[in-house]
Amino acid sequence: MSSPPIDRLPIDYDPTDAALDVAPYDVWRRMRDEAPVYHHERLGFWALSRYDDVAMALRDTATFSSAHGNVLEFLSEQELQSGMMILTDPPAHTRLRSQVARAFTVRRTARLEGEIAAICDDLLAPWTPGEPFDLVQDFGALLPSMVMTRLLGVPEDDGEQVRTVIDTMFYALPDVGMFNDVAGAAMGELDAYLTDLLERRAALPADDQADDLLSGLLRSDLTRRECVEFAMLLATAGTETVGRLIGWAAVLLDQHPDQRALLAADPSLVPRAVEELLRFEGPSPVQGRWTKRAMTLHGVTIPAGSKVLLLTSSAGRDERAYPDADRFDVRRVIEHHVSFGYGVHFCLGAALARLESRVALTALLAHHPTWVVEHERSVRAHTSTVRGWEHVHVH
Ligand code: HEM
Repeated sequence: MSSPPIDRLPIDYDPTDAALDVAPYDVWRRMRDEAPVYHHERLGFWALSRYDDVAMALRDTATFSSAHGNVLEFLSEQELQSGMMILTDPPAHTRLRSQVARAFTVRRTARLEGEIAAICDDLLAPWTPGEPFDLVQDFGALLPSMVMTRLLGVPEDDGEQVRTVIDTMFYALPDVGMFNDVAGAAMGELDAYLTDLLERRAALPADDQADDLLSGLLRSDLTRRECVEFAMLLATAGTETVGRLIGWAAVLLDQHPDQRALLAADPSLVPRAVEELLRFEGPSPVQGRWTKRAMTLHGVTIPAGSKVLLLTSSAGRDERAYPDADRFDVRRVIEHHVSFGYGVHFCLGAALARLESRVALTALLAHHPTWVVEHERSVRAHTSTVRGWEHVHVH
């Protein structure tokens, strides 16, 4: 007897499956069409995959809580009691966000543009015709931690060491994943460093206070501990994601040379291309939540006390929200996407992420308007929080 066609088999969306993570698009489409309120019995979670449903759930913090964790492995009955605002609900979240927003301003972000452009030029300089280059390891993954140390105001002399520690926090062990001793020790080291730096900043006389983000945080109503936790959150939320987006740009523009030629000919399209990259291959594909109360949607009830995954990257491919959603088009005008989240937890670093991606893409195309990805040597990254590339070798 022949086996049933793939599209008649039960849908098995296992987010820990690295092979599925390479191409989840068909499974996501079936979820959107056949099981918009999806339940995975064995792994014990629910998932929403349509744009409207994901956006609704991201907004509804009274039902879909962040305080029990936002990653499948860590979602549990127990509230985390974390000081990191991404793991809190209103009203605790409202207080933290309003305090940090005063220090992490649009002005402070915009001021970094010149430095970001200079970093991009330095990193891309060694990539000369005929030389091998890894657009993730030699460029995309380095840029965000270099920007982060400048944003926080880490002294020049410590920059290299702090960047190494930030990069080590993302060290993932095969079969163990990103929550391992090496990454844990790096987090401890960064925490201790930032605590000390903050103390040193606080000890400076008022006239000598620097105008960096840490000093801005000191002027807020946050406790010293809350300031450190926020700086740690920035270092984790604001580095790997940007690196992955640049990796996606390298791969997708190589796969779509016509789109790359459009961008090289007209750099004013780059901001649109950044939004299209975010929609098409969002680096942060899944946001975890815990239900505080039952919710019925499309005739299915998700009980209170359930783990729910909000598939923001599936939402980006939803034909109900985007015409011809599987087509990558840098000219597409995107009015909204959920790749930076939505509602109260909307990515606080979105302006910086957009700035870094825009400057990086512009620099990349100016240095080399064409490149070829060596697929046999390129390697995917699969962790619980990001989707993208670990190595993209090009020539
Ligand atoms: C392409 C790059 C990025 C992507 C795709 C991204 C994506 C996201 C998403 C989806 C959320 C919402 C999480 C949730 O609802 O649970 C989020 C929140 C957050 N992001 Fe980003 N992010 C990026 C870059 C950055 C950068 C550069 C920074 C900081 C410098 C940053 C800082 C944050 C913070 C602090 C939050 C938590 C906000 C809150 O809880 O109120 N992100 N990001």
